[in-house]
Amino acid sequence: TLAEKITERISERIFCKTFQAIQEERREQAERSVLISCPSKINEKKFLDYLSKHGTINKHFFYNSYGAYAVVEFSSRESIASLKESINIPAVEHEAAVPFKSRLLSFKWPGSQSSSHPMPKFKVQSPPSINEINQLLSEKDSIDEQLQCLTEALELTEENVSLRFLVCSLLRDITGAYFPECIIRPFGSTVNSFGKLGCDVDMILDLEGIYATSQKKGSGLSLEYQVKRGASERAVTQSILSVIGKCVDQFGPGCVGVQNILQARCPLVRFSHQPSGFQCDLTANNRVAMKSSELLFLYGQLDPRVRHLVFGVRCWARVHSITSSIPGAWITNFSLTVMVVFFLQQRNPPILPTLDRLKELAGPSDKCVIEGNDCTIVSDLSKITLQQNTDTLEKLLQEFFEFYGNFPFNKASINIRKGKEQTKPETTALYIQNPFETTLNISKNVNATQLERFVALCRESAWLLQQKEILNRSSDSPWGFAALLLPSVTSGAGVKSRRKRKLEPASSRIKNLLDSLKIKGGETVAKKGSA
Ligand code: GTP
Ligand code: MG
Repeated sequence: TLAEKITERISERIFCKTFQAIQEERREQAERSVLISCPSKINEKKFLDYLSKHGTINKHFFYNSYGAYAVVEFSSRESIASLKESINIPAVEHEAAVPFKSRLLSFKWPGSQSSSHPMPKFKVQSPPSINEINQLLSEKDSIDEQLQCLTEALELTEENVSLRFLVCSLLRDITGAYFPECIIRPFGSTVNSFGKLGCDVDMILDLEGIYATSQKKGSGLSLEYQVKRGASERAVTQSILSVIGKCVDQFGPGCVGVQNILQARCPLVRFSHQPSGFQCDLTANNRVAMKSSELLFLYGQLDPRVRHLVFGVRCWARVHSITSSIPGAWITNFSLTVMVVFFLQQRNPPILPTLDRLKELAGPSDKCVIEGNDCTIVSDLSKITLQQNTDTLEKLLQEFFEFYGNFPFNKASINIRKGKEQTKPETTALYIQNPFETTLNISKNVNATQLERFVALCRESAWLLQQKEILNRSSDSPWGFAALLLPSVTSGAGVKSRRKRKLEPASSRIKNLLDSLKIKGGETVAKKGSA
């Protein structure tokens, strides 16, 4: 049962590694790994035998992305050095090559290959389609099972996370030429436990290590590096990123479509990493964002219902074009996640603690101040005691929609630090206090129209979840959570996706049902709206 799962999860937590420890372990694994393009009819055994001459292979997997690739993790870094000794820079005809030795390699196989050997398994790196999702959901027996199954279908796999860290590590080989102590760390949905297959890789160029030289006290004599100065911290960040953007563009194997977006609030270099298929955003000097990722990760670990609800809400929002892959006046996945956290803090008893509470529980080594903002949170999850709350996911989903369908957005702001709504300090449509930079609003970009669409859809979904026809498991039409992914009837949401979906066969039962909802739903929403 869910209650048992929750108790089990809480006791597991005691043995949980900290966020930092997990990231360090993954980063270190990535440094011992290589990415190899290989023939699709590869003989796995011969391939591994060949590489094993350089040392023990810990793990490996194959995947397809415009060709076959293998990620190979050695057990020691010396193997990478030994391997590199044996690799040649290719002689290209009619062209010339930039002789940069990276860990992105090509495996050459002389002559034609026989296909009599068994084919390796290729691990999938992309999310299931909406039709596949609907199929999976239809086979479940409850909304709770549907949301658990959705999470399992969409979440990043072990291999996908390894590949993300490897891409960061490959990029570090380029930036390390200028700043040998630097680290490229993934943040955002790659590490916050809410990532969906196919999401972008957000990266930070971390230069902290450069400042960590020993400051020996003594005679008063000392040496200092002479440095080039910039007008401001922002100007220095822009100048570093612009040079790195140029290097990635001109020297980085597999890196294409490099764009320097240096005028943004948070300057970044955007590019596609072709061998992995990832869209990458490289930023610098962005420690608060890393702390936000840690915070979301921590909330995600505290109770399994958090991730299931976030995956459900994010999927629902994407299908109805509440969120978009293009930046604009819409709500972002980050804001939506904070809204789910806030909602779970409002339960009685609360499912999640406030951010202030996480700060109180912090130990001396957790202390963290970034640019004057206190970003301290507890890292040892076992210190957090949770209250007994056994709400089902069905209930939480239903009440999430009711909560935001009736939230006083015009006067209240969402504040997870206090776990209580606060008076809105500004007249923006949606005010969600930035968890660590408390004078900022993370949803400043959202306009009134987008907020209204969100509220209308929340009301409609809340209403749908009260209907017998929607709640009862049915084998011939979408039911439960799947019914919430059908085109909206009350709001003008997602014109494009609605047109697309018209082409798909929908059973006549659900069509009739929706036609009737159009009338009834409109009335209910109007009534609720005036209440
Ligand atoms: P995806 O949509 O799956 O990529 O989710 P994401 O969490 O990775 O979001 P995104 O790539 O847009 O941003 C990456 C990270 O930057 C987030 O996880 C946040 O930590 C941070 N971030 C994004 N938007 C904002 C914002 O408006 N304000 C602040 N302070 N941080 C933000
Ligand atoms: Mg992201």
